[in-house]
Amino acid sequence: RTVRIVGVPMDLGADRRGVDMGPSAIRYAGLADQLEATGLTCIDDGDVAVPRPEERDPDAAQPTDGQAKYLAETETVTDRVADAVSDAVSDGQLPLVLGGDHSIAIGSVAGAADADDLGILWFDAHGDFNTPQTTPSGNVHGMSLAAILGIGPFEDEPWAVTPEIDPANVALVGLRDLDDEEKRLIRESDVTAYTMSDVDDRGVTDVVDDALSVATEGTDGVHVSLDMDWLDPTEAPGVGTPVRGGVSYREAHVAMEYVADVGDQLRSFELVEVNPILDQHNQTAELGCELVASAFGKRIL
Ligand code: ARG
Ligand code: MN
Ligand code: MN
Ligand code: MN
Repeated sequence: RTVRIVGVPMDLGADRRGVDMGPSAIRYAGLADQLEATGLTCIDDGDVAVPRPEERDPDAAQPTDGQAKYLAETETVTDRVADAVSDAVSDGQLPLVLGGDHSIAIGSVAGAADADDLGILWFDAHGDFNTPQTTPSGNVHGMSLAAILGIGPFEDEPWAVTPEIDPANVALVGLRDLDDEEKRLIRESDVTAYTMSDVDDRGVTDVVDDALSVATEGTDGVHVSLDMDWLDPTEAPGVGTPVRGGVSYREAHVAMEYVADVGDQLRSFELVEVNPILDQHNQTAELGCELVASAFGKRIL
């Protein structure tokens, strides 16, 4: 398959400078070479334009209900991401979106769904299931999955919602840091949430196997969203919101090898939350490249 790389140097959803350098760090770590060594053809589309926080419109619209920082700018950026991803999909390519903070998932998913029923695999320490009413931070990267599903006030933000996504086909894997109201929203929704306790109890392969069934059953394809804070911070220190107790290096690789088994059903992939400023010798970006390669079919032997 041909992979089309779309960089999104977005940090407005994390309200912190640093993740905007993620796409550069991931490319510097040798992404294209690794994918070509795996037998894939790579086209790099460059980066989507992202406004800087200094140039924001002070009168920009805010949600009528609650808080969501840079919401207007997020719409602008995610619209561009959606266009780039849907172009790749209609050209028969596999879009690989490089973040940037996790708010960009709103665009990746919109572009990947393209009127098809799509399942989502969300690998993350966090649920990203807050709404402008429940968010403790106002940061949209903690709300992106709720936005995609149109939860709460996001009902009134149709640009953010991808109606083709049935929550019954959404699986979150590796959760270990949820806000109280966010927990309630996850429980009330039809998504399937696998916490780190499930990974401990059942092993990562069993959990990922189930998660894949959730995302593939009755859908036309799967979008994989990999937040690098899914991993333990000892493996991936270069992230904005690290949480202890994440998956190990080996668990992450075998999970991605299982993802590769879906083959042509893999519609799109995004790698987010790499923050080179907080990293040690680009190790988080390098690991991100390795995990993408595993998900795209790389094998040891
Ligand atoms: N739950 C917290 C919040 O809503 C943290 C979210 C972190 N999200 C992420 N994509 N790293 O602010
Ligand atoms: Mn996330
Ligand atoms: Mn996270
Ligand atoms: Mn729009």
